[in-house]
Amino acid sequence: MNPRTYKIAVLPGDGIGPEVVREGINALLKIGDRFSHRFEVKEAPIGGAAVDKVGVPLPPETLSLCKNSDAVLLGAIGGPKWNSNPPELKPEQALLALRKDLGLFANLRPAKTCPALVHSSTLKPETIKDVDLLVVRELTGGLYYGEPRGIHQANGQKIAVNTMTYSEREVERIAVVAFEAARTRRKRVCSVDKANVLECSRLWRSVVNEVGERFPDVELTHMYVDNCAMQLIRNPSQFDVLVTENLFGDILSDEAAMLTGSIGMLPSASLGGIIALYEPVHGSAPDIAGQGKANPIAAIASVAMMLRISLHLVAEADAVEQAILSALMRGHRTADICAPGESPISTTAMGDIIVRHI
Ligand code: IPM
Ligand code: MG
Repeated sequence: MNPRTYKIAVLPGDGIGPEVVREGINALLKIGDRFSHRFEVKEAPIGGAAVDKVGVPLPPETLSLCKNSDAVLLGAIGGPKWNSNPPELKPEQALLALRKDLGLFANLRPAKTCPALVHSSTLKPETIKDVDLLVVRELTGGLYYGEPRGIHQANGQKIAVNTMTYSEREVERIAVVAFEAARTRRKRVCSVDKANVLECSRLWRSVVNEVGERFPDVELTHMYVDNCAMQLIRNPSQFDVLVTENLFGDILSDEAAMLTGSIGMLPSASLGGIIALYEPVHGSAPDIAGQGKANPIAAIASVAMMLRISLHLVAEADAVEQAILSALMRGHRTADICAPGESPISTTAMGDIIVRHI
C-alpha cells in the first residue's frame, strides 16, 4: 500500500522561528520514518522575513500554499528591525491576516505542568504541581479586528481608537469549542470576561450561559478577567478549560504558559477554518535569535498537536509527546528551563535528543 502523503506548509518566520521550526520538522520526519507516512514539507516566508524578501508580510503565494496544505506549522513573527514599519508592513499583520483569512477563530493553548520541571518555574512547586488547563482563546474578533480603528487628529491632538465588538454567533461558536474540549477533559468551563464594565462581556456571558444549557454534563462558571489573572498565580490547578475573548486570551495565555516553567514549552493550535495552524505560544525572542539558545519543545509539541488534531495520527502524536517527556526526565535542559547548577544544551541538541526518543 502506498503511504498517504500529508502536505505540511511551514512558515518559519522571524527571530528564533526558523531554529525551532527546524527541530519540529525533524521530529515530523522521524515520525514519517517510524510510522511509514510521507510528509511533504514546503516552506514559505511570512512576517519580517517576507517583508525583507518580497516586500509584504503575507505574500499571496504563502497564503495559497497554506490553503493547499493539510496543516500549517508556523515559527514566530516580529522583531525590532520592523517595529517602525507602517501598520500594513508590520510582521504581526501577517499573522492577524492569516488567522482571519483561514477562519481560525479558535485558539487552543494547553498548559500542563511537567513533573520534571516543577523546580524550573518562578512559582512555588506546590502551587503549580497539578496544573493542567486549556486556554480557549477567541482569535478572529474583539479589539484586534474591530472597526473603526486608527489614529486621527482632533482639537489639536492625536486621538487613537480601537473597537471591541462581538456578535452572538462569534461568541456561540467559541463557547461550543470550549464545552466540547471540556467533555474530553475534566468537564469544567470557566468563562472569563469583564461583564461588570463591558457590553461585549455582558453579551459574551449571556451567550455562553445559553450554550452551557446544551452541555448539562459540563460545569460552567464565570470569572472577571482581573480576578482570573490573580487566580492563575494564586491557585492555577482550580482551572480546567478557560474560554475568553481575543485580547484577554492573549494576556492570560502568556501568564498560563509561565506556570509550566517556561513559555518555551507551550504549543498551540488555531482551528475553525478549512485548515488548521500550529505554532508555539512564544514569540520570536530577537534577543536570543541565531544563538542556538531557544527551546524547541513548544515547536515540537505543536507538531504533536498537528498530528493529533489535523492528521488524526494519535499514536504518532503520543510518540512525540512521550519523547519530549523522556528528554526532560533524563535531565536535558535548554537555558530557559535550567534550574540553578544545571548546564544548558543547545536548540539542536535538544531537538536531536527528542528525535532519538521518537
Ligand atoms: C500571540 C501573539 C500575537 C497575538 C502577536 C504576535 C500578533 O502575541 O499569538 O499570542 O497578539 O495574537
Ligand atoms: Mg500573545
